[in-house]
Amino acid sequence: MSANSNNQNTSVGAPGAILSEPQWNAITQSISGLSAQQLTWVSGYLAGLAASGQALPQSQAAAVPSAAGEAPVLTILFGSQTGNAKGIAQSLQAKVEAAGYSSKLVSMADYKPRQIKNETHLAIVASTHGEGEPPDDAIELHEFLGTKKAPKVDKLKYAVLSLGDSSYEFFCQTGKDFDERLAKLGGKLVVPRVDCDVDYEAEAEAWVAKLIETLKDDFTSAGAAAVAMQTGSAVAAGTAAQVYTKKAPYQATLLTSQKITGRDSVKDIRHIEISLEDSGITYQAGDALGVWFKNDAALADEIITLIQASADQEVTVAEHTLSFKEALINKLELTLSYPGFVKAYQEASGCEALAKLLEDKAALRDYLADRQIVDIVRDHPHPVTAAQFVAACRPLTPRLYSIASSQSEVEDEVHLTIAHVDYDAFGNRHQGGASGFLCDRLEEGGEVDVFVEPNDNFRLPENPDTPVIMIGPGTGIAPFRSFMQERDAQGAEGKNWLFFGNPHFTQDFLYQLEWQGYVKSGLLSKISLAFSRDQKDKIYVQHRLLEEGKDVYQWLEEGAHLYVCGDANQMAKDVESALLEIFRTHGGKSDEEAKAYLLSLRKAKRYQKDVY
Ligand SMILES: Cc1cc2nc3c(=O)[nH]c(=O)nc-3n(C[C@H](O)[C@H](O)[C@H](O)COP(=O)(O)OP(=O)(O)OC[C@H]3O[C@@H](n4cnc5c(N)ncnc54)[C@H](O)[C@@H]3O)c2cc1C
Ligand SMILES: NC(=O)c1ccc[n+]([C@@H]2O[C@H](COP(=O)([O-])OP(=O)(O)OC[C@H]3O[C@@H](n4cnc5c(N)ncnc54)[C@H](OP(=O)(O)O)[C@@H]3O)[C@@H](O)[C@H]2O)c1
Ligand SMILES: Cc1cc2nc3c(=O)[nH]c(=O)nc-3n(C[C@H](O)[C@H](O)[C@H](O)COP(=O)(O)O)c2cc1C
Repeated sequence: MSANSNNQNTSVGAPGAILSEPQWNAITQSISGLSAQQLTWVSGYLAGLAASGQALPQSQAAAVPSAAGEAPVLTILFGSQTGNAKGIAQSLQAKVEAAGYSSKLVSMADYKPRQIKNETHLAIVASTHGEGEPPDDAIELHEFLGTKKAPKVDKLKYAVLSLGDSSYEFFCQTGKDFDERLAKLGGKLVVPRVDCDVDYEAEAEAWVAKLIETLKDDFTSAGAAAVAMQTGSAVAAGTAAQVYTKKAPYQATLLTSQKITGRDSVKDIRHIEISLEDSGITYQAGDALGVWFKNDAALADEIITLIQASADQEVTVAEHTLSFKEALINKLELTLSYPGFVKAYQEASGCEALAKLLEDKAALRDYLADRQIVDIVRDHPHPVTAAQFVAACRPLTPRLYSIASSQSEVEDEVHLTIAHVDYDAFGNRHQGGASGFLCDRLEEGGEVDVFVEPNDNFRLPENPDTPVIMIGPGTGIAPFRSFMQERDAQGAEGKNWLFFGNPHFTQDFLYQLEWQGYVKSGLLSKISLAFSRDQKDKIYVQHRLLEEGKDVYQWLEEGAHLYVCGDANQMAKDVESALLEIFRTHGGKSDEEAKAYLLSLRKAKRYQKDVY
């Protein structure tokens, strides 16, 4: 069997009283990975069965032949928070199908961990999030494979592609874990694992090609090729919807950049409006917008002077030949620093102080924590060639921003809520690459290259009657503005509860009038506010959650979906601890039961996070 996964079709509500949890799990497991066409066929088949008044006998159900028994199937599992691993997994499937192999593409969120024992060929594409942690959709499988319950997989041939970012301490940890755990269980790694950094495209392509070549002998079936032709169109149809992509973005226009924090605020948070007019771009509540940015020209000039290079020197970056200055502005990361730059710059410059720093990993991390690339060069200016400097830098990567609008309300615009990274350090002003571009350097009417990054792991419930709890301090508020606009447009009857926090009520109550309007109209049933610095002791959203624990638990028992957006490092973890506390206190659960309850919410897609 060959199938294309479309997560949009899997976020259905809980089965309620109709199905038991095991039945529900079995159904979602069986249909995950089916294309829209296949789902339509299955629904017609089931409707016919129901209309005939006959249930499929159990023995017959068990006897339905599995395509997996007839020819090998490559199961492609992805664990992805922001879509990169999913994109590679989809492209892998398109390529294996083109090669005539049978395949099945499944999000780890929809995969029953015990199923692993039935696999013969498995390709894993997984990113790492948090501090070396798996993305949400991979948590369960990742954990399961590390437990004693995990089965032996002696017959399994597998391959792993890990995505990560070498500026993090635990680089590509999740992919490494999957590899290690499968090997321990007896699986055979058939192509070497590749740990990709932020510029993953070329390495990922090479890994895909190698995997296809390696599996050639196992997958040479005429039948597989016939099935592949059918679903090839499903893959093409899926991708055609997004005409503009990370590689081919849309040149949009900045309409508005408005500061929405007060004059005396410690924060500069902007409401950004971008026109998508005539692009045909569509997005859903929960998606993010990818933004390509230009570095500050002054930063490029300063670096050129410090390393005594020429601005006009021709250089090549990822097949583009352009001047060194243009490359610094448009193609290279100059703000986010990482250990690889220090190593390459040290080798090019022969700097002794940096050589010493490189010997002490912890000291290097401390040093890099507050420093951008330009700070390193300022601290250690040495003559290096333009080509050496280019080789030391990483290619510029777009930043993602949770979309703060719904197209039902704003049509061909997209709104964002952006914290302007802007601080003084070491005697200089520092701005974030993308937030500095959008909030400071780009004038209204200016052009910005954008693309939509769909996020099927952060979706409103399909049933508009389902209650929703939204926890979004700071810029974490963004997707909830989108959610409320969408629920308003839907005429959704479900209750909505917002938890918001920021330093001060008078300065930092983002979109205050809109929330008050929603409260007045009744769309927002409850709002719980945590202004952290308006009193002696800090009050955060999780404190409000605990105070309201009884009602929060009650809403969840009524089927509410719960969403968390904003800071990943502290807030999301503290909120999760508060939820577990609520389940213990108000649900009478033990530690283990509270964790199981949270897991069941996550599996039912009723606990979703968009954290960064
Ligand atoms: C799925 C997703 C959704 C997101 N949604 C949003 C959103 O809705 N709104 C939003 O504002 N951001 C959002 N982000 C974060 C956003 O993508 C960028 O990471 C953020 O804007 C910083 O990017 P930058 O290019 O401006 O700064 P960078 O150039 O990436 O960072 C510059 C450096 O400054 C450091 N730094 C940042 N802030 C400070 C500070 N205050 N003091 C000292 N050092 C600092 C950073 O650690 C970094 O080393 C989201 C991220 C993801 C992954
Ligand atoms: N140095 C950095 O790299 C840096 C600096 C700032 C923000 N950020 C990141 O930028 C993103 C957006 O920041 P933002 O300005 O939107 O919001 P934010 O910094 O997350 O702050 C929003 C609110 O959350 C509070 N808060 C702080 N710690 C918390 C915790 N453990 N639990 C719950 N609430 C907590 C803050 O209080 P207090 O501020 O009063 O404690 C504030 O009231 C986040 O990912 C954040 O991590 C990075
Ligand atoms: C909040 C956050 C935390 C991250 N933590 C790590 C990490 O600990 N280790 C790592 O190697 N990469 C880390 N990354 C980088 C991602 O793995 C990388 O961006 C990857 O391409 C994302 O793939 P995905 O879109 O499939 O989730 C982190 C990214 C974000 C946004």
